[in-house]
Amino acid sequence: TVAASANGFHDHFSLQSNGGSEHNLPKQPFIIGKGVAGGTASGKTTVCNMIITQLRDQRVVLINQDSFYRPLGDEQLEKVHEYNFDHPDAFNTELLLSCMEMLKNGQAVSIPYYDFKSHRMSEPARLVNPSDVIILEGILVLHDPRVRDLMNMKIFVDTDSDVRLARRIQRDTLERGRNIQNVLDQYATFVKPSFEEFILPSKKHADIIIPRGADNDVAVDLIVQHIHTKLGQHDLCKIYPNVFVIHSTFQI
Ligand code: CTP
Repeated sequence: TVAASANGFHDHFSLQSNGGSEHNLPKQPFIIGKGVAGGTASGKTTVCNMIITQLRDQRVVLINQDSFYRPLGDEQLEKVHEYNFDHPDAFNTELLLSCMEMLKNGQAVSIPYYDFKSHRMSEPARLVNPSDVIILEGILVLHDPRVRDLMNMKIFVDTDSDVRLARRIQRDTLERGRNIQNVLDQYATFVKPSFEEFILPSKKHADIIIPRGADNDVAVDLIVQHIHTKLGQHDLCKIYPNVFVIHSTFQI
């Protein structure tokens, strides 16, 4: 039993010690990745906001994968209806990874602001401070193994495709400056095929699948409880940074 518990602390200690000295360990954030079955308009943002509201006693930050869309050049803008925004290459994943790495190591980062009407970045960028919990949300956050590896918990919000399409028509016409025909064409040409090729297969990497999205209070409660438990463990390591040393002596 002593060896088992020593190993437990060892794993945890290694996680905590990244980037810090043994006696001054930075508390590493708990990172949640939220993927989406159906990708678009599945209620990811609402589920994230429900989690954030319930974690009111913690510092939580929400990072959206949309912020890392590659801005379109003039030629691409002329043929915007031929551009696939649902393909993994549409995102600057290297930039996302470097921002997440900085946040993980306790550094503030500047996150670009993406404008869905102009398909470009717009000012001002958003300054994000390091936090206890980082929620990374987006249609393809469970696709790239390097992004998945950052996460302590991976969630997939699973909402029926007809519900998603209905919400998307409403949102894109009201908020993103599109007309219904554009929305339906884009859905049939790119959104649905890319969902089937990239997003749906990423569901198998999820730790938790939430059916019915934001209507599922029980799932959100369970997720929040799990985060509280994990943050409690982080605090233990912060208060007793030399716990591992004591246990390793037991092992010898
Ligand atoms: N997209 C677009 N035009 C752009 C960039 C992205 O139409 N210039 C679309 C892509 O087709 C993609 C969607 O935006 O399907 C991604 O945003 P989505 O996940 O729908 O937005 P959220 O608000 O995060 O969704 P949810 O309702 O799940 O919170």
